[in-house]
Amino acid sequence: MHLIPMPEIFCGSDALEALGTTLAQVCARRVFIVTGPHVSRTDGFAAMKAVAEKGRDVAVFNETQGDPSMEQVTEMIAQAKAFGADAVIGMGGGSPIDAAKVVAAALSNDRKVEEMVGTDRVPKRCAPLFIIPTTAGTGSEATNISILTDTAEQMKKAVVSNHILPHMAFLVPELTVSMPKRITATTGIDAFCHATEAYLSKRRNPYSDGMALRALGLIARWLEKACCEPENLAAREGMLMASFFAGLAFTNASVTAIHAFAYPLGGRYHTPHGMANALMLAPVLKHNFAGNEERFADLAEAFCGARDPGAFVPAVQVLKKNIGLPMSLDDAGIPESDLESMAEAVMGVTRLLEVNPNAIVLDDARRIYQEAFKGE
Ligand SMILES: [Fe+2]
Repeated sequence: MHLIPMPEIFCGSDALEALGTTLAQVCARRVFIVTGPHVSRTDGFAAMKAVAEKGRDVAVFNETQGDPSMEQVTEMIAQAKAFGADAVIGMGGGSPIDAAKVVAAALSNDRKVEEMVGTDRVPKRCAPLFIIPTTAGTGSEATNISILTDTAEQMKKAVVSNHILPHMAFLVPELTVSMPKRITATTGIDAFCHATEAYLSKRRNPYSDGMALRALGLIARWLEKACCEPENLAAREGMLMASFFAGLAFTNASVTAIHAFAYPLGGRYHTPHGMANALMLAPVLKHNFAGNEERFADLAEAFCGARDPGAFVPAVQVLKKNIGLPMSLDDAGIPESDLESMAEAVMGVTRLLEVNPNAIVLDDARRIYQEAFKGE
């Protein structure tokens, strides 16, 4: 068993106070901050930047796109190197965080972005990397993965290396209160899928199991509240911890078929990642039920408080409805005529299908998309 440890975490309203100390501990003199246009205009960003600037020079890249392209990350790296950066901060949702990981990797490895795409292609530990999430769901602060877009091939590409694990992450509930309800809901369901898929993965282990079940308990307790009461800091902190634990779970066990089936939706219709997972989770979990009833009983116990294996999927369907998510591909505007080509496409996502607990052949893929289309 090979376990990937957690990065050091500061969590709570005062977590950012530790940022200055930690930057000093790594002797950072020139800090490169990667963020997005919206976050860069917030008070939270200004407060973070003020901490980073004490006794240090700071440069900001604030134009990170959603699903950042390899070209854009190459541009960030050029700016960071020209600035002479010796540490990187990524602040925002999954996109700036994933970009920041690759920028930090490029500062300590003389490699282009495309040379780092793949598994274990970052030879040396990345430059000191500090992560401040403003959404709660990707868990990217806990993972060794960065997802980038190859615009030429119209494909998502992954940099997977333990050398891009962040050095520290700062989970500040106040920074997530301005997240719109729809993003709170979809990112929260993404965390649900990370935990559930990790718990059912063929690569699961006792460490990922523990993290996954704890994440599900927190999601059951706090996701609906975070959606309905955006200023509820206990709910926001609960979801940040859930996202982090679920990130640790899947970085140690992998996600499986829900994420695989979501990929064609993201690639073709730009369905947001968490929304795509939400649309696919019920039929995929139904497929995975046979032979795994004990695991589903564990999931139900963590999520619903009772060891009834059949209660798990209905419970998350109720949660999805309560937080306003579409319940079928039809509701989400996906044309039925495309289901066949999506079924063919998902069969190519072998990295995730191979670790799914139950085998999936093309006929299964067709049935799963049909069920998702009807909302079954
Ligand atoms: Fe995800």
